[in-house]
Amino acid sequence: MTQIQHDPPRPHAPGPRDRLGARNLVRFATDQLAWLRELADRYGDVVELRMFGKPWFLVVHPTDIEDVMVKHARVMGRDAYTIVLQRALGLGLLTSDGDLWKRQRKLMSSAFVPKRIQGYADAMVRVTSAGLGAWRDGEVVTLHQEMSRVTMEVAADVLFGAGVSRRDTETVRDAMEIINEFFANSPEAIARVPEWFPTPRNRRMTRAVRQIDELIFRIIAERRRGPARDDFLGVLLSAQDDDGATMSDRQLRDEAVTLFLAGHETTALLLAHTLFLLSKHPDVERRLHAEIAGVLGGRAPVAADVKALPYLERVLKESMRLYPPAWTTGREANEDVVIGGTRVPRGAQILLSQWVVHRDPRWFPNPEGFDPDRWSDERAAGLPKFAYFPFGGGPRVCIGNHFAMMEATMMLSLIVRDWRVELLPGQTLVLKPSVTLRQRGPGLRVRLVERARHELGPRRSPALS
Ligand code: HEM
Repeated sequence: MTQIQHDPPRPHAPGPRDRLGARNLVRFATDQLAWLRELADRYGDVVELRMFGKPWFLVVHPTDIEDVMVKHARVMGRDAYTIVLQRALGLGLLTSDGDLWKRQRKLMSSAFVPKRIQGYADAMVRVTSAGLGAWRDGEVVTLHQEMSRVTMEVAADVLFGAGVSRRDTETVRDAMEIINEFFANSPEAIARVPEWFPTPRNRRMTRAVRQIDELIFRIIAERRRGPARDDFLGVLLSAQDDDGATMSDRQLRDEAVTLFLAGHETTALLLAHTLFLLSKHPDVERRLHAEIAGVLGGRAPVAADVKALPYLERVLKESMRLYPPAWTTGREANEDVVIGGTRVPRGAQILLSQWVVHRDPRWFPNPEGFDPDRWSDERAAGLPKFAYFPFGGGPRVCIGNHFAMMEATMMLSLIVRDWRVELLPGQTLVLKPSVTLRQRGPGLRVRLVERARHELGPRRSPALS
């Protein structure tokens, strides 16, 4: 665990010699997951390289990651890739910086306090149960698509409540899919092709953003005219900063779109990957089902059940270790700083990769193995703080982390209570790193097996689900 100290700081860290950065760019664009791990294995805890005409630093030691996220947080700005997201998210919490971010973070935190998150659990269960109501025994579905459908409905319900019709949700879903696709696959996003340049994808993206704007501005206007409500949007509408100022319509729009995009896709991936892992590890799946059946019997979960489901929490944590939905997090140094004994100049891009660090054998023996018990108190004790950071850390830690864990717990317990998923033969998980860590192509196909029809045991009462 000892780190090599350099005193005085070294001017450069080791890394691939590629002065123009062309070879790096090719690997970055085509094979990021393998490439980043190779770089860390070959060059060590801080790797320096050139891309897009700038110096980049891959930082993989937990102590150095903590320095970037916590100690030097004040001089760390949004990285170049996150800035590209502004095209859809505007200046919401994820994409803003400085005083605007500080003010917004304070205003928004009131919507994420534990009491409120417990309150959202009911809606999460209601919407999930309705979504799973469409499942049929023996049906074949695409895991990611199914999970995305439900988490999007949860996000729409919790964020906008009764103000959103089914048609509105579908409009948002279609537009979000185009926006996601844009950031996932397009040369327009990587090469920062200007918005006005008329490629088909650019046009589709502009249309999708316009549709979302129309819908959200309409909802905001309706809510401002109507009586105050104590739901998520209600909290944001009434939140006041120290000077008594509230958010403008534009700011509310940016925050709502940010929460929608940041909130539903990541949780859907967490669930899709977890169900995939359970289908490959029947022993873990049986133990998880036994825990859930023991706590719930046939009833639906409530927020207070979270504490009684420790194995479920371990399963989710282990799933995010192997397949972190946010697989990399970036920063831009706003001043010269020293990280891991290396001088990192102002303007450099800093990459912190959950994908790389969560598979580092120094912290996780047998790193490729799916072993939820590595999260037992005894085994997890002594793990360096930033060896595992699926939600980031420091002042910019994911504001939705408890929301996500609550939602994933409610959804997974409802699914595993009643269903098993069986991977169709011949399918392997092929990952596609984009803003999030997605599955390549249409995603994994699974067969749904309803327990009540195939297994003996407590039966679900439809009235309670
Ligand atoms: C499994 C689910 C999730 C994962 C893995 C995840 C991961 C992350 C990570 C790693 C960051 C930090 C980015 C950075 O340091 O630059 C982040 C930030 C953020 N997340 Fe999440 N997230 C999840 C769910 C959610 C949910 C459910 C919401 C909202 C309802 C949400 C909203 C946000 C926002 C607004 C930020 C920006 C915070 C800031 O910069 O102040 N996330 N998320």
